[in-house]
Amino acid sequence: MAKSKKPLKAALQSQQSRLRLKEKEKAAALSAELVSKKNGKGKGKEIAKDTTSRPTIPFLETDRILLIGEGNFSFALALVRNPPAIAPELQHLPSKNVTATAYDTEEECYEKYPEAVEIVAQLRESGAEVLFAVDATQLNKVGAFKGRRWDKIVWNFPHAGKGIADQDRNILSNQLLILSFLRSASGFLVQGPIPAVNTSRKRKTASEEDEDDEVQSSAMEAPPVTSTERGRVLITLRNVVPYTQWDVPRLAKKPTCPNIK
Ligand SMILES: C[S@@+](CC[C@H](N)C(=O)[O-])C[C@H]1O[C@@H](n2cnc3c(N)ncnc32)[C@H](O)[C@@H]1O
Repeated sequence: MAKSKKPLKAALQSQQSRLRLKEKEKAAALSAELVSKKNGKGKGKEIAKDTTSRPTIPFLETDRILLIGEGNFSFALALVRNPPAIAPELQHLPSKNVTATAYDTEEECYEKYPEAVEIVAQLRESGAEVLFAVDATQLNKVGAFKGRRWDKIVWNFPHAGKGIADQDRNILSNQLLILSFLRSASGFLVQGPIPAVNTSRKRKTASEEDEDDEVQSSAMEAPPVTSTERGRVLITLRNVVPYTQWDVPRLAKKPTCPNIK
């Protein structure tokens, strides 16, 4: 697949070194802040947490949604059958607009997750489409996808699952997976104007980031969605090491890396 993987590997490795340095700086800043708090300085500066704020719902009720890498399909079923009341956008989402896919074959899926038998039956009964053996990096090879496009292509908690013990190699393997997925997904997004990027957003301080929920989604940074714009890829990852070291936002800026084919 690669003409030469070396430049990409070197680039990713140097990116990882930068990230490690950042993590160290962040830890040092946090520890300085804790010492300062302990000494009584900085009192009253605690950041007020708005626990009542509504979470971002990155969907419209008109969206056609493609779910990638489902495990037992419980997310798909919740989306179709039991969306949270806090998300009015999802109350009228037609089930037929949802295509849920797993990397596993149907047999493998039921073997790993016996509860999936019932979940998949319910999904199909409600009109959602369920497909197995769909490789996120080769969506063009799925016959059922020919000529189709989606408003949202969603992969919750992607992971190559190769069991690589060496952390740097593990990160690299997941970065390559994400890059290949982004490249593959781009051909299946609804075409239209590129969504505006919210550039006015103030960069968070280290301590503000620590106040954040542990799970991040690219959608949280995104401005409101309109129905005529280009489709979006949504990736959900835990906001902790080593996942932060995958540096998905940076990968997403250049998904068509010239060094991988
Ligand atoms: C951590 S699990 C997350 C499962 C599910 N999305 C969830 O949120 O519970 C990672 C998933 O990615 C899938 N996966 C790994 N490589 C894949 C690939 N090339 N294409 C599609 N899915 C893949 C695995 O089969 C697994 O289901």
